[in-house]
Amino acid sequence: MFKNWFKKLKQNNFLGLDIGTSSIKIVELSYRGGRCFLVNYGWADVSGFQLQQSDSARFFSAKNEIRDITEKLLKKMHPKSKSVYVSIAGYNGLLALVDMPNVKDEDLEESVKFEAVKYIPSSLDEVFISWDVVFRQPLESDILEDINLKNDEQKKAKNTMEILLAAVPKQEVFKMENIVKNLGLEVEAMELENFSLARSLVKNDLGTFIIVDIGSRLVNVILVQKGVIKASRSLNTGGYEITSAIAEGMKISKTKAESMKKQKGDFFLSSESLIVIPTLEMIIEEVKRMINIFKAKNAGASINSIILSGGGIKMKGLDRFLSNSLGLRVEVVDPFSGIQYDESLSPYIKEIGPSFAVAVGLALRGVEEYQRK
Ligand SMILES: Nc1ncnc2c1ncn2[C@@H]1O[C@H](COP(=O)(O)OP(=O)(O)OP(=O)(O)O)[C@@H](O)[C@H]1O
Ligand SMILES: [Mg+2]
Repeated sequence: MFKNWFKKLKQNNFLGLDIGTSSIKIVELSYRGGRCFLVNYGWADVSGFQLQQSDSARFFSAKNEIRDITEKLLKKMHPKSKSVYVSIAGYNGLLALVDMPNVKDEDLEESVKFEAVKYIPSSLDEVFISWDVVFRQPLESDILEDINLKNDEQKKAKNTMEILLAAVPKQEVFKMENIVKNLGLEVEAMELENFSLARSLVKNDLGTFIIVDIGSRLVNVILVQKGVIKASRSLNTGGYEITSAIAEGMKISKTKAESMKKQKGDFFLSSESLIVIPTLEMIIEEVKRMINIFKAKNAGASINSIILSGGGIKMKGLDRFLSNSLGLRVEVVDPFSGIQYDESLSPYIKEIGPSFAVAVGLALRGVEEYQRK
């Protein structure tokens, strides 16, 4: 009994770990007296491993070095929690909104698996699947069978439910479990980073937003309505490709192009702004496509804003460029908002905010689970 009580006391610290291809982000939050506190955070640059190599395996070839860097970071942070919330990169998984027949709870798992086969290209044995019910008519209404339902169309609507299906290859999950084990930690929970982003950036806002998360090798585009992911797509491109496009356009090295990209001035007002950056065009195309599909399904619906996250959005002028191209309000949301921390940290937190959305979202999952207990 004492042991359990002790464990309970320790459980209000939550550690989120985001191992990106360009940087490692770690956040520890604590939940006390109904408030959430930032206990510590850590950031380490691992982008050097990318720029020195050109093949797509550039990240994984350096996995020992990255483990060592993460280990050092954790040692400095001294996290109170030894179990960690970790993310799986968006492009390693699948997220789909699935319309399916409304079934009783006991038949749900079987039905979801039946539907999942249509969406998942590999065998179901090779993936872990999970789902959230997004919309479901209460089955009790069956008692009223047909009294209030005037036509077949209405009957069909009553008998369907909508789930958000997530699938991740088992191989990716085992890989991540191994990484965490080698760090001397254990996995508390694992999720696709898309969920972490929605949690830290949209929180309980009931509006409709499109999150554009520009990492180093990956861009996540996520439509969130009333806090629920309604569409999600991961593009196999990112800041690394933006740097490559600048390097090619200016005939300079990638290292030079990287520092050019990070310069203080507005890139989109400079003479280099004429360089075609395919990554930005792909993002604009994907956002437009997602909005068109969403509006076709939800007549009269509108998008409140585009929310930017990820280190890639620090390119000066990018928000204005996207806003002009999409005709929508574009904003950078602070994932640390609502979290208490020392006033003196404010300038750093503002600076690192865009890169920390996944790590904060992961730690917030711990807080949410704790609140539900
Ligand atoms: N000041 C800046 N201006 C422009 N780009 C920047 C700036 N700072 C960082 N970046 C870019 O942000 C990207 C890294 O962002 P982030 O840390 O979110 O990536 P990551 O999470 O490690 O990558 P991924 O999620 O794709 O694996 C890099 O491509 C880097 O060039
Ligand atoms: Mg990332």
